[in-house]
Amino acid sequence: MNILVTGGAGYIGSHTCTALLKAGHSVIIADNLSNSKSETVRKIMDIADKEVTFYEIDVTDAEAIDTIFRKHKIDGVIHFAGLKAVGESVDKPLDYYYNNIVSTMVLTKACQKYGVNRFVFSSSATVYGDNKVPFVETMGLLPTTNPYGETKAMSERILTDIANANPAFSVSLLRYFNPVGAHWSGLIGERPNGIPNNLMPYVTQVAKGKLGKLRVFGNDYLTVDGTGVRDYIHVADLAEGHVAALENLTEGAHVYNLGTGQGTSVLELVKAFEEANDVKIPYEIVDRRPGDIASCYADASKAERELGWEAKLDIIAMCRDAWRFEKNYKGKLRK
Ligand code: NAD
Ligand code: UFG
Repeated sequence: MNILVTGGAGYIGSHTCTALLKAGHSVIIADNLSNSKSETVRKIMDIADKEVTFYEIDVTDAEAIDTIFRKHKIDGVIHFAGLKAVGESVDKPLDYYYNNIVSTMVLTKACQKYGVNRFVFSSSATVYGDNKVPFVETMGLLPTTNPYGETKAMSERILTDIANANPAFSVSLLRYFNPVGAHWSGLIGERPNGIPNNLMPYVTQVAKGKLGKLRVFGNDYLTVDGTGVRDYIHVADLAEGHVAALENLTEGAHVYNLGTGQGTSVLELVKAFEEANDVKIPYEIVDRRPGDIASCYADASKAERELGWEAKLDIIAMCRDAWRFEKNYKGKLRK
């Protein structure tokens, strides 16, 4: 199939492009490079040893999107493009609502005009709010505490309404848990701007000596050791989840959790990272981070049942691959 991948130069998008190419699909990337670099597109092609078509455009630009749909016979869309920093969304709500909602509407309008009925959307476990773990797709959505989460919940509703009104339209709403790790080649991975907000990139930068020590946000949660528990999923597994979702789309809107079903605490992750990479991660316990919940992990059985997909890589592989990418940022592709 010819797949339009918006945000394909980004962290999850780039890994998904390599998985799509490996599975025999053709890839057209639309990305404005607001949080990525064009060299990632070159790296995707190096890894897959295949060409991709790249458009440096903004997905909210309806004319630019129309041009792509006119020029290419698109069979399906995977929509990653979006702003994703929770804290920033509180300070710049309009940027988040505009970018994340308008992009979804522009793309679905083009899909309707050109008869494209396969759509896969990047949602987030954040839409569950502070529900009881494990989070399961049948749970009612709780209000999220930030505009970013609201854009995901709203986009899910928009896409569900479109599918309800147009029975030919198939959409998979993929709720990611905590994507970490990098491609085994060390060529593509996560490269946040400035000081990382997320745990794994912070840990890799401590390991590299770029940051002094990890601050563990709270050790008084009701969890195994008092620190926050999350469902970390290797980005390579997540990428395969997109291929499975795309290839198993059926009419209507379908929600899937993409997680491992395993909760890992902050201190357990630190220990796994030290074991996997033989490095020391100094840390200190500080106050809880506002807005954090104690535990977030998936019931991942629906994706396994309906898509035949399950995460395969464990926390050690996630730590090893994240560190290889950070350590060998300019490393060569290992065949
Ligand atoms: P990322 O920032 O690495 O990738 C997003 C890509 O989209 C970037 O390359 C950026 O340049 C591009 N982009 C943003 N707005 C655009 C626009 N208007 N037009 C064209 N391109 C645009 O982020 P990621 O971690 O790969 O996340 C991908 C998607 O998954 C996002 O929608 C994000 O909200 C969602 N998600 C991410 C996580 C996570 O922890 N990484 C968790 C849940 C959901
Ligand atoms: N943490 C620390 N120190 C840090 C960073 C994080 O102790 O420097 C802790 C957090 O308190 C939390 C855990 O590590 O307990 C994970 O935090 P992350 O920031 O890595 O991830 P979150 O679960 O807070 O959020 C992520 C994405 C969101 C997404 C959410 C659910 O950043 O966009 O997962 O999918 F919505």
